[in-house]
Amino acid sequence: DVPKVHLSSGGDMPIVGLGTWQVTDDQELETALDAALQAGYRHIDTATIYRNEHLIGKVLSKWLKEGKVKREELFITTKLPVYGMRAADVPDFLQQSLTKLQVDYVDLYLIHMPVGVQRHAYDMGRISENGTDLTTDHVAIWKAMEAEHKAGRAKALGVSNFNETQIERLLKQAVPPSNLQVELHLYHQQRPLVDFCKQHGVSVTAYSPLGSPGSKWLSLLSGKELPDLLGLPVVKEIAAKHNKTSAQVLLKHTVQRGIIVIPKSSKPNRIQQNIDIFDFTLDDSDMAKLDAQDKGLDGKLFDMKFIGGSGKHPEYPWTALL
Ligand code: A2P
Repeated sequence: DVPKVHLSSGGDMPIVGLGTWQVTDDQELETALDAALQAGYRHIDTATIYRNEHLIGKVLSKWLKEGKVKREELFITTKLPVYGMRAADVPDFLQQSLTKLQVDYVDLYLIHMPVGVQRHAYDMGRISENGTDLTTDHVAIWKAMEAEHKAGRAKALGVSNFNETQIERLLKQAVPPSNLQVELHLYHQQRPLVDFCKQHGVSVTAYSPLGSPGSKWLSLLSGKELPDLLGLPVVKEIAAKHNKTSAQVLLKHTVQRGIIVIPKSSKPNRIQQNIDIFDFTLDDSDMAKLDAQDKGLDGKLFDMKFIGGSGKHPEYPWTALL
């Protein structure tokens, strides 16, 4: 069985989940979901802006109807879109997600990004367009999320891409965030932020845990070369020692830090491989070698400043990157 991480606002989150960002082909996603459920995944990560909730709902409802899985065994995360960053929008956006996913509740509802942009400006391509929505008020949005939590439509609440200051503000609310989802991998280990979260009972989920090797557009936008974490000699050497793959070593390194991982793959054999990481342990020397690969902020791949002019938003979280 896949170990779980307890969430302060309720529920237990399997430490490995299937990431579904950037699976562009519908049939490919359905096949991937079937393969994942078959392989024992019970945790699926999606978001309004991935535009795939209806496909996930289709596959999950088939598994539920056939009695192959129970709703309470599943852990579904979705996210409030960056163009829905107003308190009054929260109930509608969550309801639309629930309808598409064909469920009565999600296990975790996250604010996807701390910035707000206008609907028309939400397009990864429009780098220079200024569509920032300056009305963004995290506390007001959070109170609307708390109402959804109270009504049972969101079992747990959290945030994504927030910085320490932004998380701190929400820690003072009635239901503190129980999860933070951020970019986290070998070159960007997020040590200070993870320590901060641990201190405050906030679990951490790593997105791009393999360094997003398929995201060539990311390197085009950032001007940085995509790192080949899977091909690093130190990773390959540790993988050979344990008779595992590089991907399994990278995921295990993060999981052994107590961090949840949501690797994305649309290939059934890789999906299987990515959850098959509980029959070996990285020893102290493996961990030390991998820890030493951290490049801090220089290792960061994803930035949001190209979304609707988000870099100019007062809640843009990573001023050091501007
Ligand atoms: P594919 O979907 O073709 O398998 P991340 O989750 O860090 O964003 O990484 C996702 C990328 O890593 C995708 O391009 C995916 O490709 C690839 N990937 C996922 N699992 C593995 C694996 N076990 N070995 C090699 N590449 C993988």
